[in-house]
Amino acid sequence: MELITFVVLLTIAIALPLYSRRKRYRLPPGPKGLPIVGNAFDVLADYEWLTYAKWSREYDSDIIYLNIAGTPIYVLNSVQATTDLLEKRSSIYSDREIMTMCHEIVGWGQNFALMPYGDSWREHRRMFHQHFHPGVVDKHHAHIEKQAKDLLRRIHANPDGLMKYLRIMAGAAILRVVYGIDVQPENDHYIGVAEAAIHSLALTGNAGSYLVDNFPILRYLPSWAPGAQFKRDGERWRAQVNQMFTEPLDLVKQRMANGEPSDCVAATLLASIDERKDKPRAELETVVKHVSGTAYVGGADTTVSSIATFVLAMLKFPQVQRIAQAELDNVIGIGRLPSISERPSLPYITAVMKESLRWNLVLPSSVPRKMTTDDEYRGYFIPAGSLIIANAWAVLHDETRYPNPDVFDPTRFLTSEGKLDKTAPDPVEACFGFGRRICPGRHFAMDTIWLNIAYILTTFNIEKPLDPSGQPVEPSGKYTSGFLSHPVPFKVNFTPRSKAAEALIREAVFYD
Ligand code: HEM
Repeated sequence: MELITFVVLLTIAIALPLYSRRKRYRLPPGPKGLPIVGNAFDVLADYEWLTYAKWSREYDSDIIYLNIAGTPIYVLNSVQATTDLLEKRSSIYSDREIMTMCHEIVGWGQNFALMPYGDSWREHRRMFHQHFHPGVVDKHHAHIEKQAKDLLRRIHANPDGLMKYLRIMAGAAILRVVYGIDVQPENDHYIGVAEAAIHSLALTGNAGSYLVDNFPILRYLPSWAPGAQFKRDGERWRAQVNQMFTEPLDLVKQRMANGEPSDCVAATLLASIDERKDKPRAELETVVKHVSGTAYVGGADTTVSSIATFVLAMLKFPQVQRIAQAELDNVIGIGRLPSISERPSLPYITAVMKESLRWNLVLPSSVPRKMTTDDEYRGYFIPAGSLIIANAWAVLHDETRYPNPDVFDPTRFLTSEGKLDKTAPDPVEACFGFGRRICPGRHFAMDTIWLNIAYILTTFNIEKPLDPSGQPVEPSGKYTSGFLSHPVPFKVNFTPRSKAAEALIREAVFYD
């Protein structure tokens, strides 16, 4: 039987029972899909979070129903729905979908952010939490500061390299914190290995990107078979992913065996295994490997996107930049950089950070959940196995909570006296996810974003470059589509604010 005939018959076999079952229940409104494939093409469309928000308005419903080849999908577009389901009913809304290509063939199942809900996930998350909760995250500040200083030096020398340098800053901070690795100033091996691996996550991480996700039996096709390019790609990517999870941890183990001091998360976790008697050592070492690798994946590109969003916003809303710099000058003075501990006296900078997380989201459609049991909400039936997509973008662009949501306006988080307004809606309610699976790296992330914003605004004026005719070059303001979104590269100038600022940038060189 030809592959395509086999696939069509299998789809009908799977979809028909689900379809007839579905008809018996009330479902939320949503666009009519095509026969067999359902809304597969709608979901794979670019900027799906905007499409979901548009449907939400068109159908006048904060919950939208879709299906991909028979799998029900519920898209939540309001804080009410995400709170009611993902927070209050977190015990049944915290599972993840296993995607054959991403998890099994390429090996991203090692990433605990994608693991199914259960004891193994809990063990991973507990270990991660020990080193990233708010009470301990300040022990990482020195590493965040060092990389934020190095970023100043790099963008001063070459503003066009902003995105690349942001990636080095974030990757280097995480590699130091997690594995005790001090990266090379250029072409670092470990950053290179991780970037190669993470590339395959972007390609395979969206549900339905590969036919084998819907028809796992296809994984048994031999690699040489026609139509099995996914297997050949998968094997290549798997080697990269394994290298990323294994190589840096092997270095930590080697250093520990040599008796070298290693003040890093992985070394502390490995050392703590000795005290445990409840599980075999090899099993716990594997958990440490997954937890450490996941920290890199979680932290590598996410803060990069938020800081790039901040730079873009400063170009588009220059008055915000001026107010933020005035606050820094008043509180910190001229000739020194602020520190994270000074955050309480710099509320406007904190508001700029919050607005950078809200204005354009790093993960606009969050990370999908899978239902573990049947549920009912507002009279709608939500069967086990359904996918739940939280449209975090829609939550943070809800005009009733964030008036003029497309405007970058930090004052929405401030009182009329300029203090942080504790009663204002906080983007943390959606941008870092929800309930039991909320991003456990968020404190580290916010410290990183805050400090980079504060350093950049202390030292530079962020300006549009001029074209040959003397006109400012406008940034397109466009974002990439897909699972993780960031601004498309744009032209920007970083001009030192003063001689004193220039001296601070020069002092920031730390590679010797
Ligand atoms: C701007 C920066 C960041 C954003 C916007 C962000 C956002 C998110 C989101 C939306 C999720 C999914 C939560 C859910 O399913 O509800 C997540 C999960 C996760 N993030 Fe972050 N994140 C950021 C930075 C980081 C950093 C720096 C780290 C590591 C140090 C990290 C580690 C993780 C981990 C380990 C998970 C998986 C949690 C789980 O499944 O239990 N993230 N993040």
